[in-house]
Amino acid sequence: MAELLPADVVESAWSVLDAGRMHLRGAPIGLCASVEDTADDGLNYRECFTRDFAVAAAALLGRGDHEIVRGFLTTLRSLQAHDHDIDCVRPSPGLMPASFRIDAAENGERVVADYGQRAIARVTPVDAALWWLLVLRAYQRAAGDRALTREPETIEAIERILRLYLAPRFEMVPTLLVPDGAGMIDRRMGVYGHPLDVQALFFAALRAARELLPSDHAMQPAVLRRLGQLGWHVRWSYWLDEERLGALYRFGVEQFGDSASNRFNIYPDTIPTWAMRWLQRGGGYFAGNLGPARMDFRFFALGNLLAVAGGLATEEQGRALFALVEAHQEDLLGVVPMKLVHPALENDAWRMVTGADPKNRAWSYHNGGSWPFLMWSLAQAGRRVGDVDWLRDAVARGAERLRRDDWPEYYDGPLGGLVGRYARLRQTWSAAGVLAAGQLLDDPSSPDAFAFESDAELEAHIRDSASPGSAPEPS
Ligand code: GLC
Repeated sequence: MAELLPADVVESAWSVLDAGRMHLRGAPIGLCASVEDTADDGLNYRECFTRDFAVAAAALLGRGDHEIVRGFLTTLRSLQAHDHDIDCVRPSPGLMPASFRIDAAENGERVVADYGQRAIARVTPVDAALWWLLVLRAYQRAAGDRALTREPETIEAIERILRLYLAPRFEMVPTLLVPDGAGMIDRRMGVYGHPLDVQALFFAALRAARELLPSDHAMQPAVLRRLGQLGWHVRWSYWLDEERLGALYRFGVEQFGDSASNRFNIYPDTIPTWAMRWLQRGGGYFAGNLGPARMDFRFFALGNLLAVAGGLATEEQGRALFALVEAHQEDLLGVVPMKLVHPALENDAWRMVTGADPKNRAWSYHNGGSWPFLMWSLAQAGRRVGDVDWLRDAVARGAERLRRDDWPEYYDGPLGGLVGRYARLRQTWSAAGVLAAGQLLDDPSSPDAFAFESDAELEAHIRDSASPGSAPEPS
């Protein structure tokens, strides 16, 4: 088969990544978000973002570039918030930063981390430590280096993450309750509560922790228990397809007690017309959020793709998701894959939900914009689902456009064909997303360090976690 990406596209993408390398005392430890000249404008595009680096790590590990990934992992490990007395103005123990930069200091250089105390709107990076776990596991698999994981500092870092993320909270659901803007969407977009993007990442990260910790580690049973409950809850309660929509549409409401079928009291009048129309064309997807009287019907690409890649979705759900993407290629893939959220919030909904955020106007940025880094997740999930021939065409088409437009951060418009209004150019995770997708799709048998194999013990736990009254098995 011909190579998916032309040589000049590959070369141009690597030149962006190589230009973004950040060094501490001579050793590579990360990549800055954008290498466009204007990126040094007082904002944080010159910093290394944890989530952006995870995409870059996929491409770098594929090229055998292990040193920079190791440098990133140990840097983040040293930046992790440590134990301290209870307070609410310092980062919680276990939290990892959204981003870091390197500053000149009296005797050399120092790393300065942002846990949200500097970020626009002071958003919390709930996703950062979860990405770190995934990168650590991928590094171990690609480099064959188990020594880093066995270091006491690494085991302690994993334990601290688990203590923070598995801590008992106010609710009795296995999903994480997170504030607005706590992940890739780091602005107000109505993603507070139990957003799918974070839950799918949480599931994959717990699977990573399960593999990274010694099998007799004291936290293993709690990890497996949570995985089982989370797996069941998301597979069953978030899933939407034609049949499920039909049931929701005729749901009883105001149900009290153990046998309630409408456990979250979702009112049928909240089902948007577009979703009714969309699901008539087959396939299915996971809803964007679920909580008391609230189901966010918007399609969130990152969470849906991660659910497939991390094994949170059943095989059948994975196939249904790809059938849906295929049926709605224009909406979801457009000119440059892939739409982050569909559809956009317009008019009053935009004003109220985003706080009238001009960067998130309808069909722009997080609000219906298209993000090239998602091509990596798309390719990863596609490999798991199997033979998806349109995927190669979509990635090849997107890659050409990106090279032509000099690697923008995102695209705008319902079809994703306009370079984003405020998009940076030469954005490292856009280039990395294309490179990693190319590596995965060129040779479907090539190793994918981030892939998760099916796990019979985990599947049995998910089945056993069915709560009374939640009944019918997800397909
Ligand atoms: C934006 C994105 C965020 C990303 C950052 C750096 O803030 O929303 O997800 O990590 O840019 O690229």
